[in-house]
Amino acid sequence: MTGMRVRVIPKGPVLIPGPVRIEVPDGRVVESDRFMVAICGCGRSKQYPLCDTSHRRCRVAEAVAPEANSTAPATTADPGSNTP
Ligand code: FES
Repeated sequence: MTGMRVRVIPKGPVLIPGPVRIEVPDGRVVESDRFMVAICGCGRSKQYPLCDTSHRRCRVAEAVAPEANSTAPATTADPGSNTP
């Protein structure tokens, strides 16, 4: 199969070969003549629809405080204790 190769980065951008002309829902048209263009897939970019690497800060925040994103209830019980 021949065609454009698009690469999706988990929790990050979609990388597509440029140049590209991007039409966004508000009617704007964004053009990029770069060799490879990163389209924001996380929705946090201040330069949307282009990736500004804001997705990296989210990954760091998740790595620093993974329990903040957990749905498991917090416990204060001693896991080694046999007392109910
Ligand atoms: S994917 Fe990079 S800022 Fe959204």
